[in-house]
This record gives sequence, C-alpha cells and structure tokens, in this order.
Amino acid sequence: MNILGIESSCDETSIAILKDDDVKANLISSQLFHKDFGGVVPELSSRAHLQQIIPLIKKAVDESKISLEEIDVITATAGPGLIGALLVGLTFGKSLALALNKPFVPVNHIEGHIFSGFLMEEKPEYPFLCTVASGGHTLLLLVKSDFEIIKLGSTIDDAIGEAFDKVSKMIGLGYPGGPLIQEYAEHGDEESIKFPIAKCKNKYDFSFSGLKTAVLRYIQKNHKEEFNDTEKSNIAASFQKAATEAIIQKVRLAINENKVKSLTLVGGVAANKKLRNGFIELGKTNNIKVIMPKIEYCGDNAAMIAFRGMQYHKAGKKFNLSSNAYPSLPTSKAGNAFDVLG
Ligand code: KG4
Ligand code: ZN
Repeated sequence: MNILGIESSCDETSIAILKDDDVKANLISSQLFHKDFGGVVPELSSRAHLQQIIPLIKKAVDESKISLEEIDVITATAGPGLIGALLVGLTFGKSLALALNKPFVPVNHIEGHIFSGFLMEEKPEYPFLCTVASGGHTLLLLVKSDFEIIKLGSTIDDAIGEAFDKVSKMIGLGYPGGPLIQEYAEHGDEESIKFPIAKCKNKYDFSFSGLKTAVLRYIQKNHKEEFNDTEKSNIAASFQKAATEAIIQKVRLAINENKVKSLTLVGGVAANKKLRNGFIELGKTNNIKVIMPKIEYCGDNAAMIAFRGMQYHKAGKKFNLSSNAYPSLPTSKAGNAFDVLG
C-alpha cells in the first residue's frame, strides 16, 4: 500500500510517501525565518506552507519513484496546531483525494508522534510506555494496542520544549531553544546551579513553569548586561539536567508500576542527547527495549502522519471530505480523538 502524508501543523512543511511502513520519501522544509521574530509567527507560517507544499510533493514523487496515481491513501494532519497552518495542508490533502478519487484520513499530530517509533527498523512491542516530549506537549502514555492509549500523566503548565525555548531566550541564545541549550550545555557544568524538579498531585504529571521561574530568578539575582559563554553554558547545562531528570523520574516510576515491553521517546525534544542517554540507561537497568526515532522522525514530519493514517485506514475507519481542522485535540484516547475528526 502506498500512502501520502502531509504535515503542516506548525513551522515545518513536510511531505512523505510510504510503501507500508517503509519510508520512500520524507521531505521536511523548516521555516527558519521565524528565528528573527523569536518564535513562530502564525500568518507567516501559513504563507510558507502554501509556497512549499506543491514543490515538496513533486520532489517526494521524484525521490520515491511512486507517482500520485499510484498512491492508495492520502493523509494529512488535522490538529492540534496553528489553525491557518493546518488548513493549508488539510485542504490540499482533501483536494488531492477528491481529484485522485482516493480515500482521505485526517490524522491527530500527537498520535503521529506516539506511533513514530514504528518507522524504525526495530519496532516497539505492546504494551509500551510512550513519552511525548515536544514544543506543545509533554505526555506519559501507556499504549496497549494500535487504538488503546491510556494517559498516565501530562504537563500541568508548560510543555518541556516550551521551557527549553523560553530559557534559551532568557539567556540570550535565541530560537529554537532546544538545540541551542543542548549545544551550550555540552560545555557547561550541570552541577553548578541546583534547579528544582516539581512535585505534582498526580504522581505522573509534569510541571515546568517553576523550573522556568527558578532560572529567571537566578538570572535576575546574578543580573549582568550579558552572561559570558561559560555562564550561559552553566545555566544551560543545569537547566537541561533538571528538565530531563523530571521526565526520567516519572518514566522510572511508571516502569515500576506498569508491566511494559518497550519504552519509546518521541517528539521534538526526543532529539535531546541527555534525555536519550537517560532512556538508554532506563532500558538497560530494567531490561526493556528502548525505541527512539532517528532525529528526522523526532521533530515534525509527514512520515509519522502517513504511518498513523495507514493504521486507521487498515483498521477500516472511514472519513469523509468534510472533516475539519482542530487547534486542540484530546489525546487521552485515540479513538475518542477520532470521533471528533470523523
Ligand atoms: O515536536 P516538535 O518538532 O514540534 C511540536 O509539535 O511541538 O517539537 C519542537 C520542540 C521545540 O521546543 C524545540 O526547541 C525542541 O522540540 N527541541 C529540542 C531539541 N531539538 C528540538 N529540545 C531539546 N533538545 C534538542 N536537541
Ligand atoms: Zn510535533
């Protein structure tokens, strides 16, 4: 089965073509110009998707050597995300499905991330614990089967990626913050500043706003015109340690309390080396298989959307072409999310 995936929920335009779970093309165009504004500007994002989407389709067809006529299913992200950005990809996908007379599957972006581990050669085994660490979400999930997802915990305030981005801005590293914090942290002493790890009412929930405030207080207390590179690196390393340890602690607890066969780490922050090393360590200590998608599948990409859409299609779920776009979508139960989409 040939599946076309379209992703346009935020600042990456991506087109993928899969032959079952084999990724034949996964093209990603990142809108780097947002860095001049210190964050994603929604209207500029929509306009960039509009410009990029058709050239990317053409490239994906060339690269995969699969023509549009040979595509069996068309999938596109329907939410959550920036509404204008979503509308570009979704409208394009539905129009293509109409023109080619092929079925269309709207996909929940977060579900795309959750199942992105299946794009790797070594696949997760059910039941698995999935940590979604992205710019908009931080979730700890028990995934029992393709359509049974139990939410154990989530952030009660900021997402972990958002905290990376905000701290990066505070210490003057710029946007996107995650990769820059990681880079500076490599030269810093992570023991130099003790930042707190929040405790939440629900033992599996996360909170990153206290950590962000602690970094802000530290900056105000040690206020200078600008920190030198060593100071920036020490703040970055100490913050990164607290932020990643906050995730590791909850996953460790969840492993002890739930019988699982695999651990997966997905979403943009899954690119973080310190977090990845923490997961490898957890896998070794508990003798559990750890699946972390390669970097190309951690951030936003259309391969994960095509894969998730294919799971719905193969399960016989049908969607009509009047489906809508959703800025926010529930993820506690995938089936429920799709009742909304259908
Ligand atoms: O999943 P994603 O591409 O977009 C959303 O759906 O949110 O995640 C983007 C987030 C951003 O906050 C970015 O700073 C973060 O992922 N990120 C990282 C790293 N690479 C990207 N955070 C920490 N370390 C990284 N290496
Ligand atoms: Zn994402």
